[in-house]
Amino acid sequence: MTQLRTSIGLAAAAVLALTSTACGGDGESGGDGDTPLIGVILPDSASSDRWETADRRYLEAAFDAAGVDYDIQNAQGSREDFQTIAEQMLTSGVNVLITVNLDSGTGATVIENAKAQGVATIDYDRLTEGGGADYYVSFDNEAVGRLQGEGLVQCLEGVENPLVAELNGSPTDNNATLFKNGYDSVLDPLYESGEFTKGPDEWVPDWDNATGGTIFDQMLTDTGAEIDGVLAANDDLAHAVITVLERNGLNGTVPVTGQDATLQGLQNILTGDQCMTVYKAIEEEANAAAELAVALANGEKPETDFSVTDPVTEDEVPAVLLDPLSVTAENIQAVIDDGYVAYADLCAGDYAALCDEAGLTE
Ligand code: BGC
Repeated sequence: MTQLRTSIGLAAAAVLALTSTACGGDGESGGDGDTPLIGVILPDSASSDRWETADRRYLEAAFDAAGVDYDIQNAQGSREDFQTIAEQMLTSGVNVLITVNLDSGTGATVIENAKAQGVATIDYDRLTEGGGADYYVSFDNEAVGRLQGEGLVQCLEGVENPLVAELNGSPTDNNATLFKNGYDSVLDPLYESGEFTKGPDEWVPDWDNATGGTIFDQMLTDTGAEIDGVLAANDDLAHAVITVLERNGLNGTVPVTGQDATLQGLQNILTGDQCMTVYKAIEEEANAAAELAVALANGEKPETDFSVTDPVTEDEVPAVLLDPLSVTAENIQAVIDDGYVAYADLCAGDYAALCDEAGLTE
């Protein structure tokens, strides 16, 4: 990973040196002809806090530092808006289009249109299957899932033959499949050996939290409230699960996993309602995407140390894959130290005492 970051970093440094005499970005409107214009489409703001609170600000900072123009928009979960925004961006003359697809079908259409107009594309965080983007920038998502599986196993230590429920992400998000491959690689052998019992296992369309809560409510009813641990694919689904557990007086006794190290996820860890989360350094992801975008806008195609195979076309997509970090009550400080979540936000009000107990500092 270090090697990879270095090579991308060097390429970007060279690119930045070349473009540093061009006008700085205004962060808003179209390019002035010389300054590259980068378009970014985020997926929504409901399935995870990360998109608006982390990805947007880190991408903005990276583009500002590179002195390029940019236009970052959010499709708010609408496939139609996703496509309309893409068309508008192509019309406005973006040099590079960075997208987080809502599903591979609509994502691939957008990439195809971009390609037809000679616009380079980057799959950001989610791979567009059958899309053929120039690059894919993400985390090692099976590793994310493995951390979740291992985290749950640890949280269930001492529980005899626990019944585990799995609440997976969206079936149309390639990442959700990778996360599941990761945690099932840890849990399946335990189910097979009889150490753990496999309980209900369901996908949540579009990562919708409300649907996730409804599905989990049903899981709890169907098992006679016998669920001992929940593999929830991200912090927002975890929160939906915790809300249901709370109504049943079970929060804090049934461990729940998560992902994204959201403010709410970390606060749920502080209260003991959530057992772990996975922190992904979005700043590094945003920086890598911005560096590649600037290079592409300048007609370069830097090498990456990784590639992933598109499951539809079987073509290799050059990739940046970053390392995730498992976070429990023991190491929340790492997330604060990284500037991802502010101590003042995390430890506000009633959480102050819990932060003290956990030994957290600014
Ligand atoms: C991302 C997660 C996020 C989820 C829901 C996934 O593709 O990798 O970080 O929680 O989508 O938005």
